[in-house]
Amino acid sequence: MNRRTFLGTSLAAGASFGILGAQKRDRYRTALFGAGWWGMNILREAIQTRRCTVVALCDVDENHLKPALEEVEKLTGDRPRAYKDFRELLAKEPLDIAIVATPDHWHALITIAAIEKGAHVYVEKPISHTILEGRAMVNAARANKRVVQVGTHRRVSPHCISAMKFLKEGRAGKIGMVRAFVHTARPLRDPEPDSDPPPGLDWDLWCGPAPKRPFNKAIHPRGFRNFLEYANGTLGDWGIHWFDQILWWTEERWPKRVYSRGARHIFRDNTNAPDTQIAVYEFETFTAVWEHRWYAGNNAENTAIGCYFYGTEGTLHLGWLDGWTFYPLKKGEPVIHEEPKLHTKDAHNIPELFEDFLNAIETGRQPVCDIEIGHRATTVALLGMLSYRLGRSIEWDGLRERVPGDAEANKLLRRAYRPPWKYPEV
Ligand SMILES: NC(=O)c1ccc[n+]([C@@H]2O[C@H](COP(=O)([O-])OP(=O)(O)OC[C@H]3O[C@@H](n4cnc5c(N)ncnc54)[C@H](O)[C@@H]3O)[C@@H](O)[C@H]2O)c1
Repeated sequence: MNRRTFLGTSLAAGASFGILGAQKRDRYRTALFGAGWWGMNILREAIQTRRCTVVALCDVDENHLKPALEEVEKLTGDRPRAYKDFRELLAKEPLDIAIVATPDHWHALITIAAIEKGAHVYVEKPISHTILEGRAMVNAARANKRVVQVGTHRRVSPHCISAMKFLKEGRAGKIGMVRAFVHTARPLRDPEPDSDPPPGLDWDLWCGPAPKRPFNKAIHPRGFRNFLEYANGTLGDWGIHWFDQILWWTEERWPKRVYSRGARHIFRDNTNAPDTQIAVYEFETFTAVWEHRWYAGNNAENTAIGCYFYGTEGTLHLGWLDGWTFYPLKKGEPVIHEEPKLHTKDAHNIPELFEDFLNAIETGRQPVCDIEIGHRATTVALLGMLSYRLGRSIEWDGLRERVPGDAEANKLLRRAYRPPWKYPEV
């Protein structure tokens, strides 16, 4: 058991704050970095375990920080300390657990800084914006012997576990192809004009190591996914979830060749990620295909988000809200279906993943979504974006994390950081 903090049971306020505040025993001193949509979803589950005391919240936007502080106080009776700058929080607060749920371009620096201060980290997917940030995160976790769990909660979804068992038992036969996709409709928008950042938002710190664009409401909050300076479009946002499932199923660790094309055929707004994209991944024993489009989401293909495993005995569709379904090849054999078991709100399995995180801390084992696993799944997504940016196919040497003999591609495994931030070299 690492650095657990005993806080005592006698907080008088406890009783008046209901069950979550009532049993204050051994607690992990916990801080959240990025108190936006998903960060608060994670923090609520951390509070729900009754094993975490939220000592501090960090956000560069007061408009997110204030309601988050109020909610934590309401749920627990404790008022965490508030910080805008993660460096100040880490300097002042001894932590057992750091939850990192900022936009993607910040994950690496905050995760590594927290690990180096001795915290175990729960970091959101995709773990990084460029591939070598991810390698530095893995190295930092190993060098400091910290547990680092990635938020790919589908690894603990009951229906994903049973689908994997089904596939690994060979019940779909030999799989030759997997197709992963997002096909949903997003309302078409006009370009959003740049504006002054809202009062209370430190836009310079929000941009951090990434290029600093003028503030635009389409970027923050939540819109950064479709701006390639800060994220990697739909491959980075959704692709990683399904590549993680594919890597869980296969014994292979990476593709050997990748080809992707994409375009903005439909969107006329000021985002810059492709609205249409395909990527082909050659593995040794199967081919994986990614497809996304953000229009014609009319359910013509019965499902909008997920993947199909195509085998010699049938097809297994692994979905999200739609669970999994196996369509056998042989006539007369029954279709098999399993419903998902997801938590509100936003249909996730964070509680199971957080429980696994705490258990890994307590037992010293690796967590189910260990940082190396998250790094591999993120790498598959980022290799697709690398090929898309280059406009041509690339080879991949997963052992050395290099594109063999391709200086132009290798340059994109990292990127220049905006001063004073320094690209992590761990
Ligand atoms: N695992 C999942 O299923 C899942 C689902 C949704 C989002 N996510 C991930 O969660 C992350 C956050 O996404 P979101 O939709 O909640 O975005 P969001 O915009 O709602 O929240 C991000 C927050 O981080 C803050 N922030 C930015 N820079 C910061 C910094 N340097 N220090 C502290 N705070 C900072 C922003 O002000 C904002 O409040 C993303 O990486 C996303 O991919 C994961």
